[in-house]
Amino acid sequence: MSNLRFRPAVLSLPRYKPSKSAPDAVKISSNEMPTPPSPAVLEAIARELNTINRYPDLTAARLREALGQRFGVGADQVCVGTGSSAILVAALSAVCQPGTQVVYPWRSFESYPIAVPTVGADPVPVELLPDGSHDLVAMREAITPDTVAVILCSPNNPTGPALTYEEIASFVADAPDDVMIIVDEAYIDFATKPGVRSAVPLIDEHPNVVVMRTFSKAHALAGVRVGYAIADPEVIGAIQSLLVPFGVSSLALAAALASLADAEAVQRAVTEIVAERERIVPALRELGYDIPDTQSNFYLLRGSVYGLVDACARVGLIVRPFREGVRVSVGSREQNDRFLSVAADFARAEGIAQ
Ligand SMILES: Cc1ncc(COP(=O)(O)O)c(C=O)c1O
Repeated sequence: MSNLRFRPAVLSLPRYKPSKSAPDAVKISSNEMPTPPSPAVLEAIARELNTINRYPDLTAARLREALGQRFGVGADQVCVGTGSSAILVAALSAVCQPGTQVVYPWRSFESYPIAVPTVGADPVPVELLPDGSHDLVAMREAITPDTVAVILCSPNNPTGPALTYEEIASFVADAPDDVMIIVDEAYIDFATKPGVRSAVPLIDEHPNVVVMRTFSKAHALAGVRVGYAIADPEVIGAIQSLLVPFGVSSLALAAALASLADAEAVQRAVTEIVAERERIVPALRELGYDIPDTQSNFYLLRGSVYGLVDACARVGLIVRPFREGVRVSVGSREQNDRFLSVAADFARAEGIAQ
C-alpha cells in the first residue's frame, strides 16, 4: 500500500473492468461497426506506417482543415483528441473546479459520471423520460448558479432516442450563456428521424455550445482513437490547451482524413446499419420486447431480459447488460439474425411473446 494522498473523488471512481469475452465470440456490445473501414482508409494507414519514427502533426492541421470544410466552420473551430472521450474530459476541465456542477441525462453514456468527478465537479444526473429521451424541462430546472456545463447526448446511449435541432436550439436559448452546453453527437450519422441534425449551426449565435463527434462509430475507426470538437475559436483554444500533446497518432490522423475523403463508403456502411436496424427492431417488438425509439446503431431491450445475456453467450454473442435492460449493437445481417433467433427462443421461454 502506498502513502499517496489520493483525491477522495478518485478513490470512488469505478475501476476498469474488461467486458466479457470468449475466443470466438462476436461482440455486439460496444456499438462498433461490424466491418473495418474502406480499403482507401486501410491503405492510408498502411502508407503512414513509413513515418511512425516521427511525431504526428501537433496541431492536426490537415484534419482540422478538412473537418472545418465539412462543417462550414474555420479550422480554428475544431480540435481533435484521442476519441471524443478525451475531448469530453478536456472540455469539462476547462470549466469545472470543486464546487461546480455538471448536469447530464441519466441513463446515458457511462463516461459522463466518471468524467465529472475526474475534473473535480459534482455530477447532477437528470432522469430520462419514460420513453428514454432527455427530460429537457427537468434538465433546465437542474441548472443552478453553480452549474458550469450541461451534457446532451443525441442520440442517447444506451436508450436510442435523439433530440431534434429545434429542441436543442430552444434548450440552448433558454440556458444561461455562461454554461457550456456539450452536445455529444457520437451516433448522429445513424439518425433518420425528421428534424434531427447537427447542432453545429448553433455555435455562431451561442459560443457556449460545444459539439462533440467521433470517428469511432460511423467511420468504423474505434481502434485508432480519434474524435473531435467543434466550437467557438476561444472555446476550442481552451479545450486544446488541456488535451495531451501529440495524443492523436499519425495513423489515426491519416485514417480520419482518408475516411472523410471516402464519404461514399461511410454512407454506404451507415445505410446498411440503418436498414438492418429497421428490419430487426420491429421484428423484436413483434416478439413482445419493449424497445424505445432508436436513432442509432444499437437498441435497448428493456425490462426483465437479463437472462438474454447468458442465452447470447451460449451461442457466442456478447451483448451489454444495464440495470435498465440489455443493449445490443446492430451488427452484420448474419449477426443480427443470430441475435433475433436467441431473442425469439428467450421470448417464448420467458413468456414475453404477445
Ligand atoms: C455517447 C457516446 N459518446 C462518446 C463516445 C466515445 O467515443 P470515442 O471516445 O470512441 O470517440 C461513445 C462511445 O461509445 C458514446 O457512446
